[in-house]
Amino acid sequence: MSKQIIRFGVIGCGLMGKEFASAAARWCHLTSVNFEPRIIAVCDANQAAIDWFTACVPSVKRSYRDYKELLADEEVDAVYCAVPHNLHERIYIDIIQAGKHLLGEKPFGIDKKANDEIMAAFAANPEVVVRSSSEFPFFPGAMQISKWVGEGRFGDIIEVEAGFWHSSDLNPTKPINWKRIVATNGEYGCMGDLGLHVLHLPLRFGWKPNSVRALLSKVVDQRPDGKGGYASCETWDNAILACDVKAQGREFPMILSMKRVAPGHANTWFLRVAGTKMSMEYSTKQPKQISYLPYEPGGSQAWHIEDAAYVSAYPTITGSIFEFGFSDSILQMWAAFCDEITNGSQMLQPFYCATPEEAADSHRLFTAALASHAEGETIKLNWEG
Ligand SMILES: NC(=O)c1ccc[n+]([C@@H]2O[C@H](COP(=O)([O-])OP(=O)(O)OC[C@H]3O[C@@H](n4cnc5c(N)ncnc54)[C@H](O)[C@@H]3O)[C@@H](O)[C@H]2O)c1
Repeated sequence: MSKQIIRFGVIGCGLMGKEFASAAARWCHLTSVNFEPRIIAVCDANQAAIDWFTACVPSVKRSYRDYKELLADEEVDAVYCAVPHNLHERIYIDIIQAGKHLLGEKPFGIDKKANDEIMAAFAANPEVVVRSSSEFPFFPGAMQISKWVGEGRFGDIIEVEAGFWHSSDLNPTKPINWKRIVATNGEYGCMGDLGLHVLHLPLRFGWKPNSVRALLSKVVDQRPDGKGGYASCETWDNAILACDVKAQGREFPMILSMKRVAPGHANTWFLRVAGTKMSMEYSTKQPKQISYLPYEPGGSQAWHIEDAAYVSAYPTITGSIFEFGFSDSILQMWAAFCDEITNGSQMLQPFYCATPEEAADSHRLFTAALASHAEGETIKLNWEG
């Protein structure tokens, strides 16, 4: 199959920038796609981050310290931007206005005001494809839940629980970084950092909360500043959001949690859906395993535990008996973004990346959650308009 080459620039060559480089480098993993990303230009404020790309990614032709120079590069068709949250607003708007397709990182703006500005730029430039990174729905177990929700297999939804839990911040000797500082990570704290991952599928399914009661907590007050002293940790470590959802004419509770201090959890993303005809659980803690309970009135209530096959959105060279992992989900997400650029509404498969509208909806919920915690009250959300 002939492939359209999409020439990428990367702004922000840190942790996530490198993940994209790795995914692009093993594009041969995908068996039948008519598109391929090629990273030709990179930009970072830190020369060491640029040096990794120029040493490891042979397709890189040019590197820049100022992102505006990368945006002026006419060879660049699309940009991946993975920078701290305080920079999203300015850089995403400039990317969109430069007419480059954008895969941005969550939370798509440090706060709701920043997100509103990004949304306005997107609305004024509908010709560019703009999507947010969110890779976990591409895990085979998550894909299975999406498929079954689409087929109405759950019956009436009884309740939903979704979360994303980390544990590395339990260690108080871990030095401070930009994610612990309000000026760079934002007031949302762990919600901005982890929340769109949790909300992507519920929002895609149309499960928008009508109200939220939030419990936010700070666990570690200060951390080594890397200069021999200590710096205050300003952002929320953990968040539990109790939401009520009305969908398909029924109301049900939905508990969302985002935790940076969840003992024993390295990178646990999970979704549990309980329904009158089917219940299902999937967690990246046991990435191969799906659990489901089909139910007929009066019948037995037996959980089925199954090893999920290596089946995601796009077919790959990997046999279905093998295991799927984090970097596979990143590769699949990148395929979905490149698919949309190349094939538009005729994508090779139907699951597209998180949309700016979904990111904007997450901002509305996180803003309400901050108010809920501050006031100790349940806050209503109005999704009209
Ligand atoms: N999708 C995911 O699973 C996932 C995981 C981690 C982080 N993220 C998101 O990715 C984004 C970046 O996070 P990260 O962990 O890669 O951070 P990081 O600190 O590892 O990398 C950020 C990079 O941006 C660079 N940078 C800072 N200011 C810049 C500027 N003005 N111009 C160009 N480059 C600049 C830094 O030098 C650094 O190399 C954030 O939005 C974060 O929420 C997503």
